[in-house]
Amino acid sequence: MQRARRRTSFSSRMTGRLFPDAMAARQKDAPLAEKPADTLSKTEASEELARLAREIAAHDEAYYQSDAPVISDAAYDALRQRNAAIEERFPELRREDSPSLRVGAPPAKGFEKVRHARPMLSLDNAFDEEDVTRFVDRVKRYLKLGDETPAFVAEPKIDGLSVALRYEKGHFTLGATRGDGTEGENITRNLATVKDIPGRLTGGAVPPVVEVRGEVFMAKDDFARLNESRRQNDEPPFANPRNAAAGSVRQLDPAVTTRRPLQFFAYAWGEISADLPATYWDFLGQLKGWGFPVNPLAEHCRDVRAMLDVYARIAARRAELNYDIDGVVYKVDRLDYQDRLGMVSRAPRWAIAHKFPAEQAETRIREITIQVGRTGALTPVAQLEPVTVGGVVVSRATLHNEDEIARKDIREGDYVVIQRAGDVIPQVVRVIVEKRPKGLKPYVFPDTCPACQSQAIREPGEAVRRCTGGLVCPAQLVERLRHFVSRDAFDIEGLGARHVEAFTAEGLLKSPVDIFHLRDHADELRSREGWGEKSVENLLAAIEDRRTIPFERLIYALGIRQVGQATARLLARHYHDLPTWRRAMAAAQDHESDAYAELTNIYGIGEDMAEDILGFFAEAHNRDILDRLEEELTIEATEGPAMDTPVSGKTIVFTGALDTMGRSEAKARAEALGARVSNSVSKKTDYVVVGADAGSKERKARELGVTILNEEEWRRLAGEA
Ligand code: IVH
Repeated sequence: MQRARRRTSFSSRMTGRLFPDAMAARQKDAPLAEKPADTLSKTEASEELARLAREIAAHDEAYYQSDAPVISDAAYDALRQRNAAIEERFPELRREDSPSLRVGAPPAKGFEKVRHARPMLSLDNAFDEEDVTRFVDRVKRYLKLGDETPAFVAEPKIDGLSVALRYEKGHFTLGATRGDGTEGENITRNLATVKDIPGRLTGGAVPPVVEVRGEVFMAKDDFARLNESRRQNDEPPFANPRNAAAGSVRQLDPAVTTRRPLQFFAYAWGEISADLPATYWDFLGQLKGWGFPVNPLAEHCRDVRAMLDVYARIAARRAELNYDIDGVVYKVDRLDYQDRLGMVSRAPRWAIAHKFPAEQAETRIREITIQVGRTGALTPVAQLEPVTVGGVVVSRATLHNEDEIARKDIREGDYVVIQRAGDVIPQVVRVIVEKRPKGLKPYVFPDTCPACQSQAIREPGEAVRRCTGGLVCPAQLVERLRHFVSRDAFDIEGLGARHVEAFTAEGLLKSPVDIFHLRDHADELRSREGWGEKSVENLLAAIEDRRTIPFERLIYALGIRQVGQATARLLARHYHDLPTWRRAMAAAQDHESDAYAELTNIYGIGEDMAEDILGFFAEAHNRDILDRLEEELTIEATEGPAMDTPVSGKTIVFTGALDTMGRSEAKARAEALGARVSNSVSKKTDYVVVGADAGSKERKARELGVTILNEEEWRRLAGEA
């Protein structure tokens, strides 16, 4: 992750104020800090990750909160890269507070800070049975229990993000993120939208004040669905369910959080104005009584053997659980023991997280093949000797793109370490160079499409190489046709993925136009196995039904790269009908033309996207298909205003001095995007954009709960950053 671009140069803002903690840490740890990441032992790596987390956090604070960076951008990026390299080698050492897990770098200025009444702690880690036994022995020694072993509760460690929920007289009043453990962010309005979090506590004995803590997370299947819809809308997918959950609760607009399927498990308390039960086990019962979900896999354990048994059981079920877990947490059951044990350096002495080993395995790459996606992206795939990783047989792993292959110097025939993280496609972590057989040649990425032999080109600044075969490439054809008939495009019922595949294989469909000629093949269709008169009739009727189609659906159906539904709508509203759009795109091939300027001036269409649209029209075979589609179809022109922006119809107030533009310029820009700009904040205000030295308007916005944006956030919303 990169920090936001600096607005002023580093040197002009560098102050003499250094960050004592970070600096002291750096000097003390200097010898380790200088060791190359790939020579560190596991213990050293663990130490080094702790140091990097501390140091990067201090630099983030210097940069974001104090506006006083102490190192250059390059030096900062080097620290982050080192952290990532060590985590890649030892994924199991990834820390809760790892810089790589932090999403959306600067703490959003839109959230108010909340101080935790009791600090929100982290947990020490155990990696094997010995670590667990040592932990239990430590607890026994500390409590001076002699031979007696105290009871523990073992429960899954959820890979989500921890939050604190305050209830007063049984009502949910305040919800906060963990933040740095001492201070978090007020995300009450967002957490109130999470169904698992009760708005009112149930049961008899609800204390006047109680703060319940636990983990917010996103289920694996919900995560997959969310990413699918983000891809369809041309939004970048989230890397994993944890990031998706974190991104969702830190939304400035609670309406967005409402639409995100988040869940919650309760497992701890903060401030509480009543006596707690005698044991954690009973506390879990109390949480259930109040209406909180608690993890059903929690078990009471009498000794180390029982704890390790629970660990083994949970580990065995890990793959089938619908949420990510990364270990098992053991907690001393008696709360009076917990009190006596207390904490040391931000972690309790009475609990430990027994982490799962990373799901890694060693195998050999038989060959590297190239997959061609719907939009022509060439993706290299490692075909592996099958190997079991975390209970699943893996025989393929993604290699992402050609730079990735070059960076890791991955060759056909290499022995490699592969890894499965959560639900994602297995990845190649690294090559085991010591085992490389003699004579393996560096991999040469093809520059033609393996499916249609068209040229495959890589645009400057792009990581991906793409086939230029468009609608004629057979590899893209099935995917393109599936997209063409899909629900948001032509929506042809009865022409599902299986049929598209079969019809393409039989040569009935060679391009989208052929769909509208299927009626000439009715007899062939009727003679297909399992197809009766009725199903053929239904299919042909569904196709006839779609001969009339709104212009924007047609645009979307074409499957032009980067042109999802939202962009298709923008184009349709701007050009209204197909002949006008085609004329404009022909003229816009000349980048000096007015037509080109017009295209790139459409709000939401950047030069990148314009290149993809123009690239589509530059191919003769695509124009030919459009000609033929025009003959088959009645395309309904799109009416209505050209404006559809995230701020159209919204009321915005600007206050304070903005860095990158004057107030009147900001106002003009907002109005050009269809917003109303007002001078005073009221309940009707949608956004207040605050610059430096904002005063009463910002206060008022906070009182009224109006969404507050900083300049950067505003620019992003206005499509300028
Ligand atoms: S107990 C004082 N129980 O792990 C102990 N934490 O590494 C507080 N976590 O920040 C934590 N599942 O976000 C506890 N069943 C569980 C947990 C759990 C996940 C997270 C939590 C905490 C982190 C510590």
